[in-house]
Amino acid sequence: MRKKIIAGNWKMNLSLAEAKDIAKGLLTACDSSSYEIMVFPSALHLESVASIARDSQLIVGAQNAYQSGLTAMTGEISPVQLAELGIKTVLVGHSERRQFLGETTEFDNAKISYFLKHGLRVVYCVGETWAEREKGNTFSVLEDQIGKGLKGITSDLFKNLVIAYEPVWAIGTGKVATPVEAEEAHAFIRKEIGKLFVGADLVAENIQILYGGSVKPDNIKELLAKPNIDGGLVGGASQKLDLFLGLLK
Ligand code: 13P
Repeated sequence: MRKKIIAGNWKMNLSLAEAKDIAKGLLTACDSSSYEIMVFPSALHLESVASIARDSQLIVGAQNAYQSGLTAMTGEISPVQLAELGIKTVLVGHSERRQFLGETTEFDNAKISYFLKHGLRVVYCVGETWAEREKGNTFSVLEDQIGKGLKGITSDLFKNLVIAYEPVWAIGTGKVATPVEAEEAHAFIRKEIGKLFVGADLVAENIQILYGGSVKPDNIKELLAKPNIDGGLVGGASQKLDLFLGLLK
């Protein structure tokens, strides 16, 4: 049985006070939920939010990190520094980083490999643009992002890997993939993971695959009812406490 996850990606939004308020407001809900609940605050807010979440079920993750121990790498964050705050979860490959910051799938593969080998849990984001979908390339894009992004990851490391399918055209647009479209992509991703190495079908069966892209309290139930959708990676609706609590309901 795959445990469901509701994860909030706060992106470059929220003041420190707002981030702390939402985190505090989630604590009770987390402790009584059968779901895993995660938040990904701005790097500057990690320490405060992590201290609110300490000794609770709320999982605090970083939106980004660099694949190295302490070193000369201006502007980046090492997993060693995250560990000091008790942070063991990191997002990789978000489409905003791919689109606007030039992150490639090969670069993401290096990150995923390093983070998993160093005991972090990774949420790896994949998804096609609208132009790619219109040209009928959704599955070839996903095949490429899974094949290259997860290249060389050994079976023992998959227990700390979560996939997020986030069609780029659905992010922040209010245009959500239908449950049927999302389920089709999730089933395809699971099948692709099952092809990665001999025996990968078991790994594929157990991996949690989240949907992201305009998830709201009024559409989450239908999405999560699909057999291959194991939760949501939510932007906008995770950035207001009442909406986040609405998702959990
Ligand atoms: P929205 O929920 O705002 O569409 O954002 C989705 C997302 O990018 C989560 O990582």
